[in-house]
Order: sequence, then structure tokens, then C-alpha cells
Amino acid sequence: MEISDFVAGLPKVELHLHIEGSLEPGMMLELAKRNDIPLIHKDEAALLEAYQFTQLQDFLDLYYEGMSVLLTERDFYDLTWAYLEKVAAQNTRHVEIFFDPQGHTSRGIAFETVLSGIRRALDDGERHLGISNRLIMCFLRHLSEADGFATLEQALPHRDEIYGVGLDSSELGYPPSRFERLFTRCRDEGFALVAHAGEEGPAHYVQEAVDLLRVQRIDHGNRAMEDPALVARIAKAGIPLTVCPLSNVRLQNVDRIENHPIGRMMAAGLKVTINSDDPAYFGGYMNENFQAVMDGPNLSRDGVAIAASNAIEASFATPERKEALHAELQAYLAA
Ligand code: HPA
Ligand code: ZN
Repeated sequence: MEISDFVAGLPKVELHLHIEGSLEPGMMLELAKRNDIPLIHKDEAALLEAYQFTQLQDFLDLYYEGMSVLLTERDFYDLTWAYLEKVAAQNTRHVEIFFDPQGHTSRGIAFETVLSGIRRALDDGERHLGISNRLIMCFLRHLSEADGFATLEQALPHRDEIYGVGLDSSELGYPPSRFERLFTRCRDEGFALVAHAGEEGPAHYVQEAVDLLRVQRIDHGNRAMEDPALVARIAKAGIPLTVCPLSNVRLQNVDRIENHPIGRMMAAGLKVTINSDDPAYFGGYMNENFQAVMDGPNLSRDGVAIAASNAIEASFATPERKEALHAELQAYLAA
């Protein structure tokens, strides 16, 4: 994919990124060797060959296998730092990244090991790369409510290092309603709230995320488009959507990029943002996702600029940081 100068230089904000999904095949193999972890796929070619998904679960199976190479604080630091260096080169100026603690604590890795490695890299990213950040802890929805509550207990001593909570993993059969009490508790603790909904699951799951979990953003949300009344409500409430174009194609939620609904979502008044989800698995970071919606569904420069501005607005950055990001974007667009 040829990245245009316009996309490459655009100041960007990423709001939907699973840090474990930024584990590139090269680093996976390197960490497997460093930590003496056996992998089913033995080389880069075999891994890339396996990255052909027909649905979310195909991907998740490999995603959980891949993260098994992450053991030490340094591993989590290296993973996060590699992501930050990549997106810094793409002029990404603020990131809000997800991590999946249950994917690690279930393997015997201490919650603190995971958090400390990620946080240390984020702090270095802010200091040395000028990328501001928020960290969002996701609950795995295929696990129980009790498991989610236990994870929340592990997070509470680190309340000031985790800005928000989210909900991810297998969607179908795991509606948001299962986590209403958990999200109410998180809300009481002062966490910002987001949830994956309407990626594979029906529009009704998006409605539950809004009404029962009371989320401030919806991750994906594509299938809300099947319910125009719901779309109108979400648009009126100004609840942003973190759309992930290349992810949608790779998981076959959209048959080809040319048919991606992002233009229709924006036309319906939804506050849409453009994000990468799991870039090591889905074929692209921020620039590639921005370029994909310009090349495929023909989103105009103006459309892309609106999405970039929406992301600043939809972020959990401080008002001062938002103002600085808006100024940077406006200066770029004016030039
Ligand atoms: N969807 C749901 N859960 C996930 C994803 C995704 O795209 N990536 C990592 N966990
Ligand atoms: Zn996601």
C-alpha cells in the first residue's frame, strides 16, 4: 500500500489498539527463543500463512497463542516500546491502548509485571517521543463476571496508572448485559468506560453497551447500522465509535475495503474515528488504516480530517492536551 504524503503527515490519535495485537511475528519468535516457549508456528512464513481469518475467533485463537511468549516486565516493555516507535514514525501524537491482563494472569504472570512493563514504556514514550497516552484495561468477555471482579481487585491498587476499562474477546454469545454489575462498580471507582460492541455481535449488543454499561465510547459499533433508530440515538448522544477498517476486512466483517461502511456511518451523523485494532495481525498501523479508507471507500481528505479531529475530541486526554492536538491538526490542514 502506497501511503500518501497527506496521510503520513497528518497528526493522528489512536483510540483502539490492543497492545498484545501489536506483537509482530519477528518479535514473537525472538521472545519465544529468549523465554524458551514452544510455538506451534515455527517461523515468520508459517505465522503469516496462519493469519488468514474468516471470523473473530480464528484470530483470537492465534492472538492468545502469540501472547504466550510474553513473560517478563522487559517483554511487556519491549512490546509497548516497539509499538510506540512505529506509530511515532507515523506522526501519531496520542494513544489510548488496551491490555488484556486476564490473558496473562491466567498463565501465572503477575498483574504487576504486565502493568509495570507497559506503563514504563508509555511513560518513556511521553518523555522521549512526545506521545501522550491513556491505558485501558479490558475484561475478557468469554470469562465470567467473577473473574472480571477478581481482575478489578488486582487493578485497584494501581488505580492512578489505569485510566479506563473496556470489554473485548469473543463477542457472539457474550452480550454486554453479563457485565452490567462489573461496569457499574468500575464506574463507581472512577474509571472511564468503553466496550467492544457490534463488531460481530448484533445491534442489540451496542444498545446494551450504551444503556447497561453506560460506555463513553463504542469500540467498532459497525452493526449498529442495522438499527437506524439506535444510530440516531448514538449520533444525538455524541457517543464516538472507534472504527478499525483493516480489522473489519481481515475478520471478514466487511467483504472488501471498497464496501466499508465508514462513509455511511459518518453520513448518519456518527462520530467516527479510525484505528488499527491489532496491527501485527491485520496488516497495518495508523497510516495503513487511514490510507485504506481513502483508497477503498473513497473517503475524501475532508472526511479523513474529520475522523482525525473526532479522535482528539473522543479521547480521554486532558482539555489542555486536546487543545494542543487540535491546534496541531488545524495548522497541518491549513498548510
Ligand atoms: N475484537 C475483540 N476482541 C479483541 C480484538 C478484537 O478485534 N482484538 C483483541 N481482542
Ligand atoms: Zn479491538
